[in-house]
Amino acid sequence: MRPALRLLAEQRGEVPALLLAGAHHPLLHSKAVVQPHRGDRLTLAAPDWDGQERFSEIHLLATPSREETLAYLGLARRALAPGGQLYMSVENALGADGWRKRLQPLSALSKHKCRLLQLSAEHLPNQGDPLELRPPNAQADFVSCPGLFSWDRLDPGSQFLTQHLPKSLPGCGADLGCGPGLLGRQLLTRGCQRLDLIDVDQRAVQASLQNCGGDPRVRALWLDLVSERPPGGYAWVTLNPPFHGSGRENRALGVAMLGRAVESLKPSGQLWLVANQHLPYPQVLASMPVTVIEVHVGRGYKVMRCQKNA
Ligand SMILES: C[S@@+](CC[C@H](N)C(=O)[O-])C[C@H]1O[C@@H](n2cnc3c(N)ncnc32)[C@H](O)[C@@H]1O
Repeated sequence: MRPALRLLAEQRGEVPALLLAGAHHPLLHSKAVVQPHRGDRLTLAAPDWDGQERFSEIHLLATPSREETLAYLGLARRALAPGGQLYMSVENALGADGWRKRLQPLSALSKHKCRLLQLSAEHLPNQGDPLELRPPNAQADFVSCPGLFSWDRLDPGSQFLTQHLPKSLPGCGADLGCGPGLLGRQLLTRGCQRLDLIDVDQRAVQASLQNCGGDPRVRALWLDLVSERPPGGYAWVTLNPPFHGSGRENRALGVAMLGRAVESLKPSGQLWLVANQHLPYPQVLASMPVTVIEVHVGRGYKVMRCQKNA
């Protein structure tokens, strides 16, 4: 459990509130939630915020992205009832002291290597919406939002992958952990019959659909691939595994995604994996029912083409 969630629950447990970017804690009493991350959303029983109701108390867990957290603060301002208060909990490692200096809260409790900032509407930005998709800059021909991986450009690792992909990728394939779908868009040019774009973040799934221009071959799915299975039976899968969760390095997450990717291939299906060169995926692959066929190294990345055993 994130220490910021623990601190929030210890201090504000039992008080009915709107919960932003949070997860389940037995002490918290959430009346409504905003949480696009499916893994955390599935832990919460309260309904999604309807955009209308106002709350005298709001709880926010700061996210690793400063811009995304600012967008949540803007949303909180709109959702606060007159005289209401926002409690934002943030780990020191996510810049708690910087937030304290920037927001000048009414109080700032320090515990569990976190801070709990007490804020009223006057402390909050008067705009921002963490669920809004928009072009990240004037030149961009795609939509995205802060908080998504590599939200404003195609990740250089995925770009390196596209240089090694074959011109033709026939059959049904998937990009597991699709982000805003910029890799997915390139995959569509390679002649597939169907493309599943799957991510744990609902905004990534919605952005992927838009960025693929409503192509009927695309099926965008909101799934937590650690706990949920994709449709599977794929002729090929691309994977740029995540190695961060909640702002901290989390290699187990990438390994779990790799397991899902292999499992979801049909026999002799191809896995195209790209990862930072130093990450130990070759050793992990050695314990899976695949054979590494091709390896390309460059720009700090490693691309591996693996074939699932028949
Ligand atoms: C390194 S990014 C790759 C994004 C995209 N494929 C690209 O190449 O630009 C990893 C993606 O995995 C997603 N992800 C992380 N944990 C996940 C999970 N449990 N289930 C599904 N997707 C997950 C993240 O939201 C992120 O978009």
